[in-house]
Amino acid sequence: MADSPTLGIAETSEPDPTTQQMVHDTIVRWLREEASIQVEKVDYDASLFELGIDSMGAATIGSQLETLSGKTLNPDVLYELETINELAEHLDSLRAMSPRDAGPGDAGPRDPKNPHAIPPHPELAGQPAGTEQPGLMQRYALLNRRVNKLKGEGRYFFEPVISKHDGAWVEADGKRMLMLGSYEYLGLLGHPHLKQTAIKTIEEFGTGHHGVRLLAGTTTVHRKLESKLANFMQTEDAIVYSSGYVTNLSTISTLVGPGDFVIGDQWNHASIMDGCRMSGATFWEFKHNDIDSLAEMLKKADGGRTLVVVDAVFSMDGDIIDLPPVVELCKKHGAMLMVDEAHSLGVLGATGRGVQEHFGLGPDDIDIKMGTLSKTFAGCGGFVAAREEMTTFLRHHARGYIFSGALPAGQASVAIAAIEVLEREPELVTQLQRNVTHFISGLKKLGFDTAKSVTPIVPVMTHNDETALEMTRICRSEGLLVIPVCYPAVPMDSPRLRNCVSAIQTSEDIDFALDVMARAGRQTGLIK
Ligand SMILES: Cc1ncc(COP(=O)(O)O)c(C=O)c1O
Repeated sequence: MADSPTLGIAETSEPDPTTQQMVHDTIVRWLREEASIQVEKVDYDASLFELGIDSMGAATIGSQLETLSGKTLNPDVLYELETINELAEHLDSLRAMSPRDAGPGDAGPRDPKNPHAIPPHPELAGQPAGTEQPGLMQRYALLNRRVNKLKGEGRYFFEPVISKHDGAWVEADGKRMLMLGSYEYLGLLGHPHLKQTAIKTIEEFGTGHHGVRLLAGTTTVHRKLESKLANFMQTEDAIVYSSGYVTNLSTISTLVGPGDFVIGDQWNHASIMDGCRMSGATFWEFKHNDIDSLAEMLKKADGGRTLVVVDAVFSMDGDIIDLPPVVELCKKHGAMLMVDEAHSLGVLGATGRGVQEHFGLGPDDIDIKMGTLSKTFAGCGGFVAAREEMTTFLRHHARGYIFSGALPAGQASVAIAAIEVLEREPELVTQLQRNVTHFISGLKKLGFDTAKSVTPIVPVMTHNDETALEMTRICRSEGLLVIPVCYPAVPMDSPRLRNCVSAIQTSEDIDFALDVMARAGRQTGLIK
């Protein structure tokens, strides 16, 4: 955390024992009341996550601590801080600030004589101590209990079981629904050319790869895909990995290491974040899409080997990185630029070639173009398109490439076929862009807040987790498969439904989605 300047966490020494006790007691009380776990004490070196406390639990604990301390907590801090002790230290640092420094919500402690007093909970009075679960099991048990509770209430909306796929519609949990939760931007999942290509390749090469390409050999299909991707992305070469997640993790942690700098947008995808952390380089996050914030960090790192990584389209908000000034800054400071095009290929630019085409940039303005084969390309896998010197280095050093079985040839051939369809039918991109405009303008007209989205990823901000869950329940009961997204996938103060538009949806499909959303929005009070 010391590497992250965005949280504004002041350096302190040991936390004040009374603050430490206040944090500790609040957590113990929450575990007893909300999770029925009769713990007597928690480990000061554990994190909320390790204790099995989820986003809603963290939000409750945060608000109780705010009431007790009279200070406003940055919601992200609750999960970003590594241990309970660090949370206590952070509260101490807020308490040491003047009211002006600490922010508008800081009215001061409720009871100045005894600011840390935890009000006894009536239900706990006289209650005998129960069995204390050992550390790791406590974490699993708590999550299981909350999952079961949500299932019991009919409010568990993850992993719906899909039994049929029919264009824009699916049968999920036994019900026919319009799919708004997947990334099939061009609707190629059931495309005959992709299916036939996969079947033919499987007949020729079998179902898997039996190992690592560097050792067990590569196939002509892998080679063809890499050359196709290089051509499509206007680079010298490309290297394919078994997933987009592995691509980011392996590539970033191979290209930079201890002694280097890696700087990324604070809203970058988790796979980028994980790669940056794993690399051992000094890792800084700049404020979302804020060029001044990036400039400040590049200035601080000047003279050091630096990699800047950004998403082209942000996966939770659907906004686009302001790339031209990022390119300019990287050139000025001699930094290397990597862009994750997971949500921009097939989406941005007249022919779907992504963010470079969208902004009219030159082919060499982005040093490393990363993409995934699991979204627009309707398969599985990830890739990096770059100069050959770079891909050769990755082929011999990226641990996700040399210590993991290769993408099966059948999957590689699906991506080739998908690119062929995109090259033949660029009108699919225009159709997608038309649907995006239809959906976003319809939602806005109804009074929904869609944040800054201008792409097929369209959030509907719900302001609290409960509304996100209730909207989901109503939408699904009416045949609309939407996804609730809450903390820690997004900041705690911005839960939402995250919807995805596809070129395969008809105008009637989108009107149907808007109708259902309107009813759900009115029933939950989200819109009038
Ligand atoms: C921006 C971004 N990058 C990378 C990934 C990982 O890709 P994959 O799902 O192919 O592992 C995702 C997945 O959602 C993503 O949204």
